[in-house]
Amino acid sequence: MRSWRLSSTAYCLAVLFCNNSALAAAPVVGGTVCGKACRQTFRTLRFSDAPDWVFFAVQECTSRLYQQSVHLCWEIYCSEDVWILEINQTCQEIDGSQFPTHDIIAGLTDEDVVQIARFNATSPDRVHPFAQLMLPSRAFYDLWGRTLDAHGYIWDKHYYYGWAMGIFWAVVVAVGVLNRALIQWEACRPRAFRTQQRTDVWFKRNILAPATFGRRCVQDFGGWGTLPPRVRTLTLTLFVLINIVCAVYGYRFFEGYGYYPTIGMQILRYVSDRTGIISFANFPLIWLFGMRNNVVIWLTGWDFKTYNNFHRWVGRLAALQAIIHSVGYTALIL
Ligand SMILES: *[C@@H]1O[C@H](CO)[C@@H](O)[C@H](O)[C@H]1NC(C)=O
Ligand SMILES: *[C@@H]1O[C@H](CO)[C@@H](O)[C@H](O)[C@H]1NC(C)=O
Repeated sequence: MRSWRLSSTAYCLAVLFCNNSALAAAPVVGGTVCGKACRQTFRTLRFSDAPDWVFFAVQECTSRLYQQSVHLCWEIYCSEDVWILEINQTCQEIDGSQFPTHDIIAGLTDEDVVQIARFNATSPDRVHPFAQLMLPSRAFYDLWGRTLDAHGYIWDKHYYYGWAMGIFWAVVVAVGVLNRALIQWEACRPRAFRTQQRTDVWFKRNILAPATFGRRCVQDFGGWGTLPPRVRTLTLTLFVLINIVCAVYGYRFFEGYGYYPTIGMQILRYVSDRTGIISFANFPLIWLFGMRNNVVIWLTGWDFKTYNNFHRWVGRLAALQAIIHSVGYTALIL
């Protein structure tokens, strides 16, 4: 019986897929992230040459002080100004204006730049609009660089871990199909050529055949219609573990994160997102395994009882994830 060896391969694949956070490189802020980070630092700043109390996007298109400041920021912290095209597009839509090019700061000397006031998240205070050029401090800029980097990282993981659910079951079904093919192949070979290695016998006796808790219920089903209970339990345990790992790993939280200052809020927001996405990813599986005539029954030859068991467990996990998602979001906005 090869199915045990195949399932350990599946296990390795799944773990590799879900748990690569340790391999993730340290944040490198460059390119688009850099351009965006500069912009984000200015979000709470108002300039006096923009109309009063307009949205940030409007200030972006109307305030020359802002436009010079952000170009300077790009000049100092980024290798290239990567954001002009998108902002230019937005300005076209908002008021038909064009976002100026880098030339807007051509007249500034190094001495001018040294004189420019630096700001961070709290200082100077934002009571009055500023009538001068402003530059984010290095530390504040770095904070936003890290924030955007972490944000992108977490969202990538949301996406991959959502897919991990479907991939896990695709591997399980693939193992089932292969196993079935091997059994048929084995049965067709002449008796003298059949291999009956000792490990095979051990696996058959200890892993495949027995019921999960030692009861002899496997005999009730007979044949190959039902996935043996111990394999079923192992598969489900592995799936539960993957769900836990995928909900717990793949985040980058830190004090001072731009969108959510406290780590508690970051956890609420991103764990809620993650569980919501994984729950959503589990829904098609609940539906697939719950159908009496489904394509996976046909592929693997395992009976409806097996899939009904999978159906229930995927359903329980998805429900639990949906609850965590809702509670997390509720706690975040309260
Ligand atoms: C902004 O968009 C306009 C119209 O699409 C274009 O003519 C102009 O060159 C653009 N400016 C920059 C800086 O890309
Ligand atoms: C912001 O800058 C002020 C003045 O330079 C400094 O006292 C303060 O600690 C800074 N705040 C943060 C959060 O870095």
